[in-house]
Amino acid sequence: MAKERLDKILSAQGVASRSEVKTMIRRGLVTVDGEVVRAPEDKFDPELVSIAVEGRQIGFKRHLYIMMNKPEGVICATSDGRIRTVVDLLPEHLQRRGLFPAGRLDRDTTGFVLITDDGELAHRMLAPKSHVYKLYEVGCDRTLCDDDVKSFAEGIVHGDEHFQPAKMKLTGDNTALVEICEGKFHQIKKMFTSVGAVVTSLRRIRIGEVSLDAALAPGECRELSSEEVQLLLSRKSGF
Ligand code: URA
Repeated sequence: MAKERLDKILSAQGVASRSEVKTMIRRGLVTVDGEVVRAPEDKFDPELVSIAVEGRQIGFKRHLYIMMNKPEGVICATSDGRIRTVVDLLPEHLQRRGLFPAGRLDRDTTGFVLITDDGELAHRMLAPKSHVYKLYEVGCDRTLCDDDVKSFAEGIVHGDEHFQPAKMKLTGDNTALVEICEGKFHQIKKMFTSVGAVVTSLRRIRIGEVSLDAALAPGECRELSSEEVQLLLSRKSGF
């Protein structure tokens, strides 16, 4: 990895704000490979050195992967002048890291949103050709039947949009699990509209082989383990 300024490395790792980090460095609280460094502008390759703040080792992470249980009313964006975003809900120390939501859930959709700074993984996870399935719990305004399951399996046409075949599993009169690997705008809602039903609730519960952590209340988040990061790109169907 390229060398970066020490203050930039530490603030990007969520240690403190850039100006706070500068002060800490100037006060001699930061060591690099055991030596005190007092110049915030000194450059290091964070993957090749060992950095400690007040004796505490900073475990360098090139990228962060956060699972959030998105609540209703919040948008999948980094910032917005009016409406709260998923990034606004992150703990303060994570707000400085240039994180963004990988893909979009509608404002009224709840559930699993991945928030990361890894553009390459986000791209792979979202590209339909990667066949990473996203699983949704859907509620709608009419009783669903096997004909709906068949229509989804055949692929839905909505106006001039074509949606790839999708798996639907009925879970109650008006509820189903639906799995898609595309992420077109309002896709699930449009698919239901095409079979004459209106979506009344929508919640994403799984991406790849990673399920939304049941311990996360709406608005809460946690970091993914490295195993979970690998499983995000799994092509295995949830059914
Ligand atoms: N499909 C939709 O219609 N909305 C979402 O938020 C996600 C999938």
